[in-house]
Parts: sequence; C-alpha cells; structure tokens
Amino acid sequence: MKSVFIIFYIMLITFLFRPTYSTYQYFKLSLQWPPSFQQRYGVRTIQKNFTIHGLWPQNFSGPWPHDCSLSHSFEANTVNILGRQLAIDWPNLHGQKWNNKFWEAQWLKHGTCSLNNFKQLQYFSLAIGIKNKLDILGMLENAGIRPNATITYNYIDIVDAIKAKIGPFEPELYCVMPHNNVVLLFEVRVCRDAMGATYISCVNNSNSCQGYLINIPE
Ligand SMILES: *[C@@H]1O[C@H](CO)[C@@H](O)[C@H](O)[C@H]1NC(C)=O
Ligand SMILES: *[C@@H]1O[C@H](CO)[C@@H](O)[C@H](O)[C@H]1NC(C)=O
Ligand SMILES: *[C@@H]1O[C@H](CO)[C@@H](O)[C@H](O)[C@H]1NC(C)=O
Ligand SMILES: *[C@@H]1O[C@H](CO)[C@@H](O)[C@H](O)[C@H]1NC(C)=O
Repeated sequence: MKSVFIIFYIMLITFLFRPTYSTYQYFKLSLQWPPSFQQRYGVRTIQKNFTIHGLWPQNFSGPWPHDCSLSHSFEANTVNILGRQLAIDWPNLHGQKWNNKFWEAQWLKHGTCSLNNFKQLQYFSLAIGIKNKLDILGMLENAGIRPNATITYNYIDIVDAIKAKIGPFEPELYCVMPHNNVVLLFEVRVCRDAMGATYISCVNNSNSCQGYLINIPE
C-alpha cells in the first residue's frame, strides 16, 4: 500500500514541476526577398528566391511572446543535422558565414516560445517544411507579377496572387522605402495555426505596403 502512495507522490511532484513554457496562439512565417535586402543593406546576395527570416509564435491580440527560455540555448550540432538544406532555405543574407548567429538569434527570440509543441530540431524542420511547400515566386509568376526594377504592382494584386494558391487567408506584406519613394517588397508573411498545420489569416496585420505601388526588384 505504502509503495502506491510513494508512486503517487512521485507522479504528483513530477506533474507539479514539469517544465511549463510560454504559450502562443499561432505562427507567422516570414520570408524575405533577397534582392530587396541587397538594395536596402547594400550587401551582395545571389539568391533570387524567397528565403526564411523566421518562424514566429504570435498571439491574436496583445503582444507576441519572445525570449521564452534562457535555458534552451541554440544547439548548432543538433540543428546542423538538417545540413545544407537550412543554409539554402534560411541563409543569413548579410553573409552565410554568420548563419549560426542568425539561427541562434531567431531560436532564442522566437523558437523558444513554441517549446511546448516543438523541440529545437522540430522547430527548424517545421519552418523549412512550410517554406518548401510555399512557392511565393511561382504564385506571383502565375499572376503575371515578375520581379523587375522598373515595374510596380498594386498591393491587392500581390495579395490576390498568394490567396489564389493558399486559400482565403490574408498574408502580410512588409515593405521598406529605402530611397526615391519607391516601396520595395521586403517580406511576405503567412500565418499557420499553432501546430503549423494549416493556413490561417494573419491578423493584427502590419501591412506596411497597403496603399502603395510596390516594386519587386530582380
Ligand atoms: C497588435 O500587436 C501589438 C504587438 O505586436 C500589440 O501591442 C497590440 O496590442 C496588438 N493590437 C491588437 C488590436 O491586438
Ligand atoms: C499569449 O496567449 C497565451 C494564451 O493563449 C497566454 O498564455 C500568453 O501569456 C500570451 N503571451 C503574451 C506574451 O501575452
Ligand atoms: C523557389 O522556392 C520555392 C520554395 O522553396 C520552390 O518551390 C521553387 O521551385 C523555387 N523557384 C525557383 C525559380 O527556384
Ligand atoms: C522589365 O520590364 C521592362 C518593361 O516592361 C522590360 O522592357 C524589361 O525587359 C523587364 N526586365 C526584366 C528583367 O524582366
């Protein structure tokens, strides 16, 4: 009888002291357009396709969680199991030699906030998995929207090109205005549920491109 209680207490203690992580309500995957990055930061990039900036746990209202666990440091060795794929899909556009720094910063600020659902390797795999099924460049191409330094496009046409493929879910466009009043498409962001399984609309949308003519440099 006594051992039953001991087991019960052990289970109770384990339950009470199980790690609890910050929670979040959905994910935002942010993809950057390297030629815009090149113009803004004056760095040279060779990529001509969207690459990952980050996979960000979000809340529908109020502030989004960040820096959720100091005790889960970035494990380069674990993440490097993903090999070259990570470098291709999630490069540091300031220079690939700083890839680990970039991944570490993203992991600490954002990834640690989804630890209740995803361990480190799973988090990076999830981001790559979503990104590789999402051919933004192809979607734009299908709608006749081609990167071209001399052409501008309407916000709504870019959004509709993406919605034509992912369904009636609002993406978020993020633009910068580096010079000459030209608004550059800097990032396209899409939102997924907390498990990363299905698209949802990006809410609390900071569409910095709305109302502008948008250039997508080639
Ligand atoms: C939108 O998000 C910001 C933080 O990113 C938060 O401060 C603000 O309260 C949110 N607004 C709404 C309407 O939820
Ligand atoms: C986000 O929402 C969850 C509830 O779903 C809450 O527990 C958490 O504290 C929120 N995070 C922030 C930073 O407000
Ligand atoms: C761009 O990336 C997407 C997603 O990773 C991929 O499906 C597509 O084939 C790529 N397009 C080009 C032109 O490389
Ligand atoms: C950009 O658009 C202009 C005007 O339509 C066209 O002449 C040019 O060939 C295009 N450049 C590229 C790289 O597609």
